[in-house]
Amino acid sequence: MNKKIAIVTSGGDAPGMNACIRAVVRRAESCGFEVVGVMNGYQGLIDETLIKMDARTVSGIIQHGGTILKSSRCAEIRTPAGLSKAVRTLKKNKIDFLVVIGGDGSIKAAERISKYNISVVCIPASIDNDVFGTDETIGFDTAIDTAVDAIDKIRDTATSFDRVFIVEVMGREHGFLAAEIGLASGAEFVLVPEIKYEMNKIVDELKKDQKKKKTSAVIVFAEGCGDAKKVAKQILTLTGIDVKVSNLGYIQRGGNPSARSRNLASRFGSAAVDLISTGCKNRVVVLQKNEIKSLPIQKVISGKKKIDTKTLKLVEKLAV
Ligand code: F6P
Repeated sequence: MNKKIAIVTSGGDAPGMNACIRAVVRRAESCGFEVVGVMNGYQGLIDETLIKMDARTVSGIIQHGGTILKSSRCAEIRTPAGLSKAVRTLKKNKIDFLVVIGGDGSIKAAERISKYNISVVCIPASIDNDVFGTDETIGFDTAIDTAVDAIDKIRDTATSFDRVFIVEVMGREHGFLAAEIGLASGAEFVLVPEIKYEMNKIVDELKKDQKKKKTSAVIVFAEGCGDAKKVAKQILTLTGIDVKVSNLGYIQRGGNPSARSRNLASRFGSAAVDLISTGCKNRVVVLQKNEIKSLPIQKVISGKKKIDTKTLKLVEKLAV
């Protein structure tokens, strides 16, 4: 039976979102479904900013970061008035399924929309990789590569100048990104929001390094750990070492998606449409041990993803 799908990208954009949009549209077209895109995240549902989509509208986008549908952090969707406007747009345009491509917050909003008898299917996309139930989210792999490339460059000047750098990476509440970046970049330390760091441990190790004539180091610092500049000042006071701070910021959100991010996005997008064609609703497409599965949306939003302390231990072991 012909179905009408609306696609929205919501929250922090992630490299691979365009590959996912492309996969959803192409798979939907092969099933004979109609597809509309919602512009500007959930704000576009509230404002009824919809565009028709077909294979032509998604050609040549797989390699581009960002999202052709644009995104937003829409506070209004969290209000009863905003929610009912969004639902009205979906019902008025006879949308059978809403496909939400986004992170934790976007999936929570999708669950609220599903309570109004709107069928939703969610696809986890966020550089933070903080969605419960999936091993990986779209964009995570690319953000790791981007940050590691930047840290390799910082490492050159750190070793040339005998400097210690605190490199701040994204991850407001979680350290998944910081942990993988730390391991891949050979960081001496990784600070993550989930684990209270011990300043005296860092100071002791830096002092030991100084004695061993190891005169430079990189400390990967997830933004959720607080103020990197304050930590730098503490280290200077306690060790006399002049620590520089480099905040990688928004470069981690952009750039051409890696092959891995593109393939994950394409597999997720196609699987989402397969769920729709079998009438499976209110589920989140996930990756578990390299298999594409789906979980009830309730299970995903009520879960809490735990940091893999083994990765962090590996970093510390390698460093000290
Ligand atoms: O959710 C992804 C993310 O990049 C976080 O890592 C970061 O803290 C946040 O978005 C930044 O949000 P905004 O783009 O609204 O400044």
